[in-house]
Amino acid sequence: MCGIIGYSGNRQARDVVLSGLKRLEYRGYDSAGIVVGNGSIQLVKDKGGMANLESILPEMKGQYGIGHTRWATHGPPLKNNSHPHLDCNEELALVHNGIIENNMALREELIERGHTFKSETDSEVIVHILEELYDGNLEDAMLKTVAKLEGSFALAAIHAKENGKIVGVRNISPLVVGVGKKENFLASDVPAILEYTDRMIYLLDGEIVTLTRDEVKIMNFEGKPVARNWQKVEMNLEGAEKSGYEHFMLKEIFEQPDVIMDTFIGANLNAENGYSINLRPDTIKIIACGTSYHAGYVGKYMFEEFAHVPTTVDIASEYRFSSATNSNPLIIGISQSGETSDTLAALRTAQKRGFNTLGIVNIVGSTLTREADNIFYTRAGLEVGVAATKTYITQLIALLTLAIKVGVAKKTLGIDEARHLSNQLRKLPKHVRTVLDNSEQIIEISRGISDSKSMFFLGRNMNFPVALEGALKMKEISYIHAEGYPGGELKHGPLALVTEDTPVIAIAVKDQTYEKMLGNIGEVSARGATVIGIGTEGDTELPKYADHVIFIPKVPPLFTPVLVSVVMQLLAYHVANVRGCEIDKPRNLAKSVTVE
Ligand code: M6R
Repeated sequence: MCGIIGYSGNRQARDVVLSGLKRLEYRGYDSAGIVVGNGSIQLVKDKGGMANLESILPEMKGQYGIGHTRWATHGPPLKNNSHPHLDCNEELALVHNGIIENNMALREELIERGHTFKSETDSEVIVHILEELYDGNLEDAMLKTVAKLEGSFALAAIHAKENGKIVGVRNISPLVVGVGKKENFLASDVPAILEYTDRMIYLLDGEIVTLTRDEVKIMNFEGKPVARNWQKVEMNLEGAEKSGYEHFMLKEIFEQPDVIMDTFIGANLNAENGYSINLRPDTIKIIACGTSYHAGYVGKYMFEEFAHVPTTVDIASEYRFSSATNSNPLIIGISQSGETSDTLAALRTAQKRGFNTLGIVNIVGSTLTREADNIFYTRAGLEVGVAATKTYITQLIALLTLAIKVGVAKKTLGIDEARHLSNQLRKLPKHVRTVLDNSEQIIEISRGISDSKSMFFLGRNMNFPVALEGALKMKEISYIHAEGYPGGELKHGPLALVTEDTPVIAIAVKDQTYEKMLGNIGEVSARGATVIGIGTEGDTELPKYADHVIFIPKVPPLFTPVLVSVVMQLLAYHVANVRGCEIDKPRNLAKSVTVE
């Protein structure tokens, strides 16, 4: 996830691009850069965030330019890997947000044809292709260039000799055009340009825009002109970084359909990048903390089901006190930040024991990425809310993808079965959207339980850790005491705490645990508890048992944790919101826990 911006008009482009980049910094702050055109092009870029860029930025004369703020995916956050990237003649400049999946093949071809690469990024191939295809008209070159690219990309490019012209492209990664008076803008997100104009054109996938000071022209990837009117955006700048959402947490919950896809696509890239993950371990041990631990716990069921590999899950701070596991284990450390001290310490212990380690990590360049033997990146983008949401969902996607790969490698999963699962996985973003569209019902239920002092979350099998995560989310941001339990365990003690004042959230989806969960719902109902059931759409039985039922779309059983988790995130968020809690920065917590 990166931020891009472009400007053409009568102002100094440097100032407009700089102010826009500051508003896009939430999209990444590994490095940043600006190019301004004025007969030639002047480039300034460096590693680090906007404060650093601003401190080194000289006066730059020119009325068109582009800028970028980076969240590193290919290549560490170094100056060379910063955008904008230039062609060999230093006449063309380009910024990119997204992932070019076929970059390795393209890069090799370009090097063979004599191009010199200055970065390790996937993005730089684009500017060299543009260079080859450029024949005096940037949009023509861009049209031919996009035909060669696979993956997700939002682009903005300028040429030194085409004064005032910016060409932008949208394909999966977002890009919006801001229409001004004698000036026009491009940006990854509305807030970047809202201080200059509220007239926006949201580009669609497969569109190329050419903008100058006086004109905005859009065409599709076939080169056919597209007519589009601007829309007036009702958004105030105060909440702009949250793109109109009240809290970052809610924004991040709603980003989940996109980041699921990014992580799924990225899974193939992880393999392409030459990582040699041990796909045939005899056992797996997963080590993590907090929400990442819960994701790992769900992963245990995935590895056991798809690959028949016995899998154990340890809380990282406990691992060092355990005895060594069997021979040929794969140790998987999961961490959003890649900086959690407990997880790092546990991984180091595993390495001292001679075990092969794999990190599932979100932040590129973090300590875990440098220390683990292999890395699998989740591609959730920057998560600002302290409560993990989209990073957890992408951990589930990473684990699903890995479990399928291990299953295929160990031949416990046939190729056709694996393909079928991958196809189902591709549909998950759509199903998540369906859950998000049901927010009104969840808000209504949240109002009814927001005064509670205590809650229980029940689930069985792979949905037991989902219940743990639901309870963690609830306590973390609403400060209501909440416990996650396996449905069958309640009667062995905790049932003593269940009264009419204790709402119970019960996961009763249609899988092999369904009948038993109905029994558990009966047990708590008999004690007067209000039951909120989470069930599979089309189920007519569950509403007879539960006071409220929130339905999720029907998906393969091991995919249900993703959809149920989204319901639980929304429930926690809205309960906390009704209670007026400090949602994005809950008391006593930090995003990255760097003490043991
Ligand atoms: O960065 P990590 O994934 O290693 O962080 C682990 C936990 O600190 C983290 O998941 C924490 O539990 C979150 N605040 C939960 O929302």
